[in-house]
Amino acid sequence: MKIISVLGAKGGTGKSTLSLILAASLSKKGKVALLDCDIQLTCVSAKKVNPDLPYEVVSTPLLKDVLSEGERLESEGVDWIIIDTNPRSFLEDPKRTKKIIQLSDLCLLPCRPAPRDIRATLELSERIVAEKANARIVWTFVQPRVRAHKESIKQAPALLGIKPLKTVIKQRICYQDVFDEPPLPIWNLDAKNELRKLIKEVIKLTS
Ligand SMILES: Nc1ncnc2c1ncn2[C@@H]1O[C@H](COP(=O)(O)OP(=O)(O)O)[C@@H](O)[C@H]1O
Ligand SMILES: [Mg+2]
Repeated sequence: MKIISVLGAKGGTGKSTLSLILAASLSKKGKVALLDCDIQLTCVSAKKVNPDLPYEVVSTPLLKDVLSEGERLESEGVDWIIIDTNPRSFLEDPKRTKKIIQLSDLCLLPCRPAPRDIRATLELSERIVAEKANARIVWTFVQPRVRAHKESIKQAPALLGIKPLKTVIKQRICYQDVFDEPPLPIWNLDAKNELRKLIKEVIKLTS
């Protein structure tokens, strides 16, 4: 069983979107479960809207829930656990964040390519580097023609000490559908391609 955690120090960076995309995509390859650590229960409500999603979503507000659900899901033969986290818990419950980092085969850090977002990620990235975790930044909301985005993408890996995934997630209206529609109703071919490449990288990093 592989554990992929989706972490961040800021709201609105695309963590839940990425978690839902990963869960839907990896469900085509094996058995997946999504643990929702966010008190806003974004992923739990996505499952309520679409009960037919091909993976289980469990609310795990506390570290002990993550640990007990992790054990249960492993005994049930789950291949991938995706953990969607909430940014506040990183500051309020550093012990839980540390444990989740230690448990994870891969930590993904969705981040907008903007100086403010990169600065907000510094403390979390330091902890991830200290744990020598297998981790990647995932650039989200990318607008390739925006010069500030290009510059941030160039400079951030040195600042954060964490490499980025080669595939970036561009800013696209179609990604807003992942909360409301059945698994990955991405009709946009460029987005589909982007996600195919991203999942390939993620599988490689966890195998
Ligand atoms: N790549 C993207 N392009 C456009 N909108 C996006 C993208 N990723 C996420 N969103 C939208 O941005 C908002 C915040 O995303 P969300 O995944 O909930 O962030 P987080 O979980 O980090 O708080 C949501 O309305 C979501 O639909
Ligand atoms: Mg979220």
